[in-house]
Amino acid sequence: MGVYVNKKENVFTLETKNTHYVIGLDNLGNTHNIHWGKKCRVDDYCLMQNNEKIPSDNNFDHARSEYTPFGKTMFRQCAIKASFFDKCREINLHFKGYESGNNSLKLIYADDYYPLEITLNYELFDGFDIIKRYTTVKNTGNDEIVFERLMSAEISLPGTYPYHIMNTRGEWGAEFSPIDTLLEGGSLHFECRQGRSGHNHSPYFIAYKNADEKIGEVFFANLMWSGNFEVEVNRDFRGATRAHLGMNSFDFEFALSGGECFNTPAVLCGVTQGFSEMSNQLNRFGIKYVLPRNFANTPLPVLYNSWEATEFNVNTKDQSALAVKAAKAGCELFVMDDGWFGERYDDHAGLGDWFVNEQKFPNGLDELIKNVNDLGMDFGLWFEPEMVNPNSDLFRKHPDWAYHYEHRPANEIRWQLVLNMTKPEVQEYIFNRIDTLLSEHNIKYIKWDMNRAISESGAENLKHEKMLWYYHTKAVYDIVDRLRKKHPGVQFESCSSGGGRCDWGVLEHYDMVWTSDNTDSIDRIKIQKNYSLTRPIKTMRAWVTDVNWYNRNTPLEFKFNIAMRGSLSLGGNLSKYTDEEIEECRKWVDLYKEIRNTVQFGDFYRLLDWEKDEISSVFYLNEEKTEGVLFIAAVNTSCMKPAIELKFDGLDDSKVYEYDFDGIHFEYTGGFLKNVGITIDAKKQYYNRIIRIKAK
Ligand code: DGJ
Repeated sequence: MGVYVNKKENVFTLETKNTHYVIGLDNLGNTHNIHWGKKCRVDDYCLMQNNEKIPSDNNFDHARSEYTPFGKTMFRQCAIKASFFDKCREINLHFKGYESGNNSLKLIYADDYYPLEITLNYELFDGFDIIKRYTTVKNTGNDEIVFERLMSAEISLPGTYPYHIMNTRGEWGAEFSPIDTLLEGGSLHFECRQGRSGHNHSPYFIAYKNADEKIGEVFFANLMWSGNFEVEVNRDFRGATRAHLGMNSFDFEFALSGGECFNTPAVLCGVTQGFSEMSNQLNRFGIKYVLPRNFANTPLPVLYNSWEATEFNVNTKDQSALAVKAAKAGCELFVMDDGWFGERYDDHAGLGDWFVNEQKFPNGLDELIKNVNDLGMDFGLWFEPEMVNPNSDLFRKHPDWAYHYEHRPANEIRWQLVLNMTKPEVQEYIFNRIDTLLSEHNIKYIKWDMNRAISESGAENLKHEKMLWYYHTKAVYDIVDRLRKKHPGVQFESCSSGGGRCDWGVLEHYDMVWTSDNTDSIDRIKIQKNYSLTRPIKTMRAWVTDVNWYNRNTPLEFKFNIAMRGSLSLGGNLSKYTDEEIEECRKWVDLYKEIRNTVQFGDFYRLLDWEKDEISSVFYLNEEKTEGVLFIAAVNTSCMKPAIELKFDGLDDSKVYEYDFDGIHFEYTGGFLKNVGITIDAKKQYYNRIIRIKAK
């Protein structure tokens, strides 16, 4: 592993655990991606061997550059575009030099005339095939430079064949529906313009030619950004597939004053053999390097959330009664959702007034918190800090604190407006309110919600108004970071009407995310599968609730089978549960506590696919390969469907594993379980099994 520089050939080889990412510099100083994939002999890499034509200025369009500026005869999509003080909108770069360390490379460029320096940053990590890329822009002069497009990375995929490009499409309640398009030519464009990463698409791409869970090269790149994003993948006539990932260029501006320097959001990219290895590397990487350090290695608690049980009707008595049942069911944390503050009796009022509603809590919050703590649980609270209802004291006092255009009516989606988070006084207000509540009460958990998109995005306070998209997201990150610093014992959950902010940017600042407001177990199988493709399992909050959208009357044990595959939570109206049902919850929660280290920190394998196999089965295995847990679930499997063989993955071939299945004890080697497998006959209306296996 490391960075190899071949000065004679001007070739830089980034060696990860299993791969090489190779960049060549031509005699004009342009970069070319020479190879990305399996390792070869480092000395073999050179520009010509790849038959790469070194572009002169007039065939610039075809180069597989690492970062293409707008200018000269470059007509395809660029990675960066700026205007200088004299209205020149072109960037002409020359190579200035490089800096390389054991695990890092910086390629430094400067404009031929204007005071702009651009650095392409690459970072490598022991034991991973993941490369972190980002771009630094530096204004080395005195006049402002204004960027119209500022991508985090440009990525060229090897070869000339068309790739399958994967992303997701979705909306509220239907997040992460997979899309897989063979890109023969033209562009695919995935984006969000709502001021968050959103429900519609994901800030990533996955590309493959022939691959499945276990074999075949899978290329991927995830943008670490929670605001407007853009992922564009294009295939040109000569067969080159290129991608750009970054902050969305739509309604975008980024000004850099003299002497200023800016690092774009980063991209985590890599190539693995099979989808499973991609997911596992990202899972491990998230825990090791990305998630906030104070809880990254801590198992997340089993929580109870009040939303689906009581919605806005929260008060000391009812919440305390729920807490009693939640504790009996084995929960470790009680989160009171929306409704505890201001005049919040429904969604028409109160957002912004982060003061405890005295009618609902006449003796303050502490009475409830004490009840919860006395039951042995921690207490958590819901906020929607970026929002304000026009019907709130905050808005009556500061009508200018919401984004708006003076002569346009503002849309009140869910009867709320978005606070102008670019204003320091707004940031201070939010920080102070949450900080005060955290300081005055024993609160251990914050659910940070964001329930509407930003529209009518006027921010008259800004010189460059379009920078609001950047400043808004940055303000969210900054406030959470400040709160975390001052209250290191508090966990943070990110939520945006369900899964509207489930990206790798958020994962640097929050400990977990709310995946979707859709808690129907069958829909969840699909939502969770696609969440798990690219994001750490432990960040995936999954509730067992009473939802019955489709009159499925799903049994509790089936719901637990699905929710225990992530960070288990309860969200039903426990007051209505019988003692037997609470007892049943307790049984599953107790089991979850026994297996949660494996689920939250182990590797995981998608063994059977709901859509393809009619059975969903995932397997989690601890790092030592000594303990695993297998989940199987099926619904209404047809009588015609023959029993299906389930082959394990990940196990140590030579170890002997034991497990009990339907009352029978089995012992097999890992090799047998992987290559021969076990037979599953899932004919039952709701078939579900959780099987723990252990090495002898
Ligand atoms: C949307 C979230 O996704 C729900 O879980 C809940 O917190 C509501 N907002 C509360 O308004």
